[in-house]
Amino acid sequence: MTDGEEAPPGTIDWALRTTRTVRRRLDLERPVDLGVVARCLELALQAPTGGALEGWRWIVLTAPEVKAKVRDIYLEALEVASGGRRPAEVVTSDDRMLDGAWRLATHLDRVPVLVVACIKGRLTAQSTPAQAGSLYGSIYPAVWSLQLALRGHGLASAMTTVHLERHEAMAELLGIPQGVTQAALVPIAHLVGTDLRPAHRRPLSAVAYRDRWGEPWDWADPARGDGPGTT
Ligand SMILES: Cc1cc2nc3c(=O)[nH]c(=O)nc-3n(C[C@H](O)[C@H](O)[C@H](O)COP(=O)(O)O)c2cc1C
Repeated sequence: MTDGEEAPPGTIDWALRTTRTVRRRLDLERPVDLGVVARCLELALQAPTGGALEGWRWIVLTAPEVKAKVRDIYLEALEVASGGRRPAEVVTSDDRMLDGAWRLATHLDRVPVLVVACIKGRLTAQSTPAQAGSLYGSIYPAVWSLQLALRGHGLASAMTTVHLERHEAMAELLGIPQGVTQAALVPIAHLVGTDLRPAHRRPLSAVAYRDRWGEPWDWADPARGDGPGTT
């Protein structure tokens, strides 16, 4: 499937191709049905976890005063991540991603629902790569499942992590215990407009190798016996 091809709406391919990070087109006026969010979270719980431990915990934020405090923490963290540049300096900049990030941050309290995704466990300086992989790998698949499910139910979302620069402040605000790792904050709203297009990504041939790092994988090359239907 190439960039120009369509996948029928409602299919898994369609969801995978059109679930985008939505920052500018979150509808800040239209309420979100929390029953739909609950349904999507239930679907997210079908994601795998290392050791089947199901250490995920989800905090669904809707109270305006709590969301306002989260916005303040998020803005502080974004300022750190942006090297001290204030919104006014970047919102008008040509960097669309940074511009979108600041716009989202500035209006975060107006987004109908914010979901904070956490996972029980904390990495230490002694943690091994396998432990790190298992911890974060036990929450991000579920966060992405949540986003895909939301898309399927007509809602838009974004994966955000920049606030983790201020994870202690978030933990204090939300009462998150020590020993629990925050993984993402997911703003959820209806989509302004209907259309989300597939992103432009580097082609598979530029990022996938065959048998050894750096070895080109020309999967459609008949001379190598590759192509659809072969291993
Ligand atoms: C692990 C991860 C962390 C991210 N953190 C943030 C964030 O803190 N703030 C933000 O606005 N977007 C964040 N994003 C969204 C990315 O910037 C976004 O996926 C990227 O712009 C590509 O968007 P697209 O998938 O719609 O093409 C994050 C995405 C991922 C996967």
